[in-house]
Amino acid sequence: MINVSSNHRFTRLPTSSAPASTRTQRRLNMMVLAALGIVLIATGSLVLLLAARKDSVDRTHPLIPGPYSDRIEARNAAVAAENGICSEIGVDILKKGGSSVDATIATALCLGVTNSFSSGIGGGGFMLVRNITGEYEFIDFRETAPAAAHTEMYKEDPKKAQVGGLSVGIPGELRGFEYAHKKYGKLPWKDLFAPAIDVAQDGWEVNAVMANRLEVSKEWIMADTEGFAKDFTGSDGNVLKEGDVCRRPRLAKTLRTLAENGASAFYEGPIADSLLKTIKKHGGIMTGDDFKSYKVKSSQPLVGYYHGRKVVTPGAPSSGAMLLSILNIIEGFDFKYRGNSSDTLHLLIEAYKFGAAQRGLLGDPVDPVYKNISAIQKTITHKDLAAKLRQGVDLAKTFDPPHYKPSFEAKEDHGTMHVSVLNAKDNTAVALTSTVNLIFGSQVMDPVTGIILNDEMDDFSIPGVPNAFGLAPSPYNFIHPGKRPLSSMVPTIIERNGIPEIVIGGSGGSMIPTCVLASILNMIDFDMSINDAIDMPRFHHQLFPNSIRVENAFNLPYSQDLEAKGHVIERLPPGQKFVGVSGIRRLENGLITAASDARKGGLAAGY
Ligand SMILES: *[C@@H]1O[C@H](CO)[C@@H](O)[C@H](O)[C@H]1NC(C)=O
Ligand SMILES: *[C@@H]1O[C@H](CO)[C@@H](O)[C@H](O)[C@H]1NC(C)=O
Ligand SMILES: *[C@@H]1O[C@H](CO)[C@@H](O)[C@H](O)[C@H]1NC(C)=O
Repeated sequence: MINVSSNHRFTRLPTSSAPASTRTQRRLNMMVLAALGIVLIATGSLVLLLAARKDSVDRTHPLIPGPYSDRIEARNAAVAAENGICSEIGVDILKKGGSSVDATIATALCLGVTNSFSSGIGGGGFMLVRNITGEYEFIDFRETAPAAAHTEMYKEDPKKAQVGGLSVGIPGELRGFEYAHKKYGKLPWKDLFAPAIDVAQDGWEVNAVMANRLEVSKEWIMADTEGFAKDFTGSDGNVLKEGDVCRRPRLAKTLRTLAENGASAFYEGPIADSLLKTIKKHGGIMTGDDFKSYKVKSSQPLVGYYHGRKVVTPGAPSSGAMLLSILNIIEGFDFKYRGNSSDTLHLLIEAYKFGAAQRGLLGDPVDPVYKNISAIQKTITHKDLAAKLRQGVDLAKTFDPPHYKPSFEAKEDHGTMHVSVLNAKDNTAVALTSTVNLIFGSQVMDPVTGIILNDEMDDFSIPGVPNAFGLAPSPYNFIHPGKRPLSSMVPTIIERNGIPEIVIGGSGGSMIPTCVLASILNMIDFDMSINDAIDMPRFHHQLFPNSIRVENAFNLPYSQDLEAKGHVIERLPPGQKFVGVSGIRRLENGLITAASDARKGGLAAGY
């Protein structure tokens, strides 16, 4: 076993299919990475210096309860993904002359194998690309409601939006990768699949995060003898544990077909037929036409500015407009000047509450209910609105939800993975957030292809009773054939002086925008390194419930001051962590730093 760092241990088993030189090269890369890891810890921030010299394993930080994310430093490029095996694959692709998009796709295909509880080719996502001319494209390949879907379809049994064939949206992942690769790829399509096929075929070691997901799902996994149980249980019949080797030969075979025959082999032919049969068997309404008619959407992302930096993030059906709205509000509070104080915390939470109120206005603009989404997003992200909202903030107290003027209740969402890629050689960058929604999506695996199907339909709002504050579910996010559900995903790229500085995003549902934003603030306003910025304990507010949710390990500073202002503080159960952030930041001296959240067992890579 190769020790990559103090906190992350994994092995890639030797690949039988790859030539020996590739194997040696991979092992070598890992050793270099390991050596780098140690150097990094030693040259980490001043606070850490002494501790690191004393003991590079027990890294401690006065404000962070741990576990700690490892910071990777690089000169050329970096990849930050939620599994070190996959970040490394992305870096290999870059070294071979692949583009940032090539690296992103190869990394994501790997995550679909190793982290299939949160993403995979049975899902969909958002990709934000900064291309070689410094321009941007938002590629939307989110899952889509089938033609037979309708607003009332879960009225009888809301559980059907989460589990089973009816919860499945038309998967977009491969059409998205195909589109991005055609436009921005340099290496052949099949080269992007090869590493993921190796991992699926030869196996990899189950990490703590996956072991936890398997443990909480073990009842239904063990019962699904033809599907999940084949991949995720051991010879004793129990679900795999940390350190066990997981292999997914059926998925490897499917990936081989897709590598050879292209994305269309997923949407038509034997793979599609098998998926449709399985969806139908589990109560779904998806048809061959749904698969055939799936289309990627491309648009210009939203652009905002925060203290002179350009912030680029997708529009609806992502929550980018909400992220920009909160940044606009707090820009006027000048946190750098206020520093670490109870006022800073209070003002940030007030901005979160206004941001959450905006979210209810967002949805997929394809629905005729939207007359003009551009106009709505323009209003939400305008500095004038932020100035107006700041007048509704009182330093002495917080308010009940109606004060923030929410129009509709936005649906909570879940799951997800995020990949960040930054290539300093050509200043390209990609932020990809992708998901199958809840843990292992719909809990439906096609037994022939090994593909796990999403349950993205659960992200739509369902008409029904207003919440405790009389707020109705958002009609902007009701089901409509061909519509994509609203998402909290916010893959984001930030430029300083025309050069990509930060590539960041997160996984973990409704808390993504606030937690990605807090990581950005920690770096820009509070001068933290990327790993400390990501590791800092988190707190979140989304208006409903009207309380500050705090990670259990965290002694939220100024708790008494905040309570005196009327805030309710709700501590999450121990072990419940929110949001995994994967980020890259290029420092002013050109050094690239990257970190993937230890909360999700992530590890970045670079060269
Ligand atoms: C860069 O992106 C812009 C905007 O999406 C597009 O018009 C342009 O063709 C792209 N250029 C390259 C070289 O990809
Ligand atoms: C939609 O709003 C945008 C931005 O405010 C505006 O430029 C455009 O003319 C509007 N389109 C329609 C059809 O109203
Ligand atoms: C901010 O100050 C409070 C109170 O002095 C302290 O408990 C907390 O650790 C500080 N946080 C940071 C990030 O410096």
